[in-house]
Amino acid sequence: MRIRYTHLAGVVGSPEGLETGALCGPQMNDLPIVRDAFVELVDGKIAALGSMTDCPESDAGWDIRTAKGQWMLPGFVDSHTHLVHAADRVAEFRMRLDGASYQEISAAGGGILNSAAALEKMDESALLDALLERLELARSTGTVAAEIKSGYGLTFEAERKMLRVVRAAQSAQSLPLWATFLGLHALPKDQNLDHFVGEAIDRWLPALADEGLVDFVDLFCEAGYFRTFDLLRLAEAADRRGIRLKAHTNQFHSIGGVSASIQAKALSVDHLEVLSDEDLSALKTAWSQGIGPMPVALPHCSLFLNIPYAPGRAMIDAGLPLALASDCNPGSSPSSDLRMVWSLATSQMKLRVDEGLAALTANAAYALGAQERMGRIQPGMEAHVLLTKPMTDYAQIPYFTSENYIAQTLIYGQ
Ligand code: NIG
Ligand code: FE
Repeated sequence: MRIRYTHLAGVVGSPEGLETGALCGPQMNDLPIVRDAFVELVDGKIAALGSMTDCPESDAGWDIRTAKGQWMLPGFVDSHTHLVHAADRVAEFRMRLDGASYQEISAAGGGILNSAAALEKMDESALLDALLERLELARSTGTVAAEIKSGYGLTFEAERKMLRVVRAAQSAQSLPLWATFLGLHALPKDQNLDHFVGEAIDRWLPALADEGLVDFVDLFCEAGYFRTFDLLRLAEAADRRGIRLKAHTNQFHSIGGVSASIQAKALSVDHLEVLSDEDLSALKTAWSQGIGPMPVALPHCSLFLNIPYAPGRAMIDAGLPLALASDCNPGSSPSSDLRMVWSLATSQMKLRVDEGLAALTANAAYALGAQERMGRIQPGMEAHVLLTKPMTDYAQIPYFTSENYIAQTLIYGQ
């Protein structure tokens, strides 16, 4: 496969293949751009790019694609999703509009437990079909790779079923996927908290990891759900198997999840809607020591639950990196559309256009440990990119909040 895109309005990328680190603070607003550009893709990777004035003359052996007026951007990497689920939760949506809060619905046995009951009844092949449809939809709005969590199983067998569905989807389609074990998502009814935590960490995790089903672990570190010492215990058990933690923390309360995640050498800390000054300075210290977890904001969850947005502007101004993800799930964020996330990041979190793009690409790849593979358009990277419709400025993607101006999403150049 040798494909040469020519006459692009521009490419957000660099002819040199040097950069793979997290983009911090002002670096997020300083993305490399080549205007009036060509890009060469060879065997699923970015081989070369540059200005049309430097475009090779010979077409022999190349599949030439004239992309007049179109932009090529790194595709969106969705580092936090719950894309395996059985059903929507529209009944709870109505309940919230009648005045119940997300936490009240949860406490009454709805919420995550409701999704777990539905998942219990659905078999692997039906779950896989639903997942494949959701991945196609995500791809149509620019997503090129996704992390997918368990957490609607809450028994060993059902958690295993979810993770096996992710692995089956990896073989059935081309988007790169990661599977995260989120057994500690909610406490099933009538279970003892300490006993449940022990089962998930000491029995389920080893068995699931031995079966090759676990790329990352996660837990919901939140008042009324799981505690910071559960987080430390989970991360320690995972670390013995070379598996990193990505933690749900600080969604409703700041209970020490950020500091515990730093101590546990987490790869990312996700949600962060309620971030105290101490949490922010703990992140700053960790990043100054080179041991920081990637902060991941989930603005569509804030929109849908009408809760505060993570203070992304403050984090970037403090010199931190930031990633953005969809959190696609039936309870708090029923959308996988990362164009919408980019729009919300700009209009609600006050990120600049390029900061939003950096957060959805290079930094999102970092939140999966995939920064050497994807998230940037530069020689050597896998060719997971998107092509816009003809437009003067790629800011039109977040500017138009609902029309789809993405023409094509390429995975391994296809
Ligand atoms: O990231 N907050 C915890 N987990 C999900 C929501 C799960 C659900 O409500 O089904 C989240 O928002
Ligand atoms: Fe989530």
